[in-house]
Amino acid sequence: MKVIIVKDYEEASQKACEIMLDVVKNNPKANLGLATGSTPIRMYELMREDHKKNGTSYKDIKSFNLDEYFGLDQSHPQSYHYFMCHNLFDELDIDMNNVHVPKGKGNIDEECDAYNKLLEENPIDIQLLGIGSNGHIGFNEPGTPFDSVTHKVELKQSTIEDNARLFFNGKIEDVPTQAVSMGIANIMKAKKVLLIACGEGKAKAIYGTVEGPKTVDIPASALQDHPDCTIIADEAAAKLL
Ligand code: GLP
Repeated sequence: MKVIIVKDYEEASQKACEIMLDVVKNNPKANLGLATGSTPIRMYELMREDHKKNGTSYKDIKSFNLDEYFGLDQSHPQSYHYFMCHNLFDELDIDMNNVHVPKGKGNIDEECDAYNKLLEENPIDIQLLGIGSNGHIGFNEPGTPFDSVTHKVELKQSTIEDNARLFFNGKIEDVPTQAVSMGIANIMKAKKVLLIACGEGKAKAIYGTVEGPKTVDIPASALQDHPDCTIIADEAAAKLL
């Protein structure tokens, strides 16, 4: 595990963008594993700016998102599909047929199987991750087995509370209680993993991920076994290291 400690959110976003663009430029047909949450927003903005300014092309890039709330249509403004279009895809030249976000509607078991198949057929070149304050990655909550693949998730109360602040105008009753998420085994198969963590609220999770024992209680600690994992943490998130 390589840990890069930077001053703040802006520096973390710039460094992460550099790493992401390096993959895209070296392999214009790369498969990108993408994440939602507030953490990657600035990095996505920098990618959009780079596309506009330098013309970096995404026309042959495929993207695969980590997770989606269950019960929301793709067009729902608080779905992760909508989030990705709004924060990244709408301003890139990516072919929307190459964009994949797990579906949050329909038969959840069939959707999970189909997503696993898709990931098997399209190995991820770089998987971007944020981290939950409880150490979750994607929506793999504490207790999720390390050999899990795309599955249905019952969200923890703490995650529902964290995410209410971000996506639902603070109205906790609007936050779905279930989601579909890539499993930890899917994430571990990515050639490269890039995790960004910013703010003091992530300090305990980052400590557990980097220095704690490998345990399902901190799902991100599975990454200790990944052969090419970079963590970019700002000083606040790294303060317990
Ligand atoms: C959600 C997402 C995760 C994300 C986490 C942290 O739970 N499913 O992929 O890492 O939020 O979000 P934030 O970056 O807003 O702290």
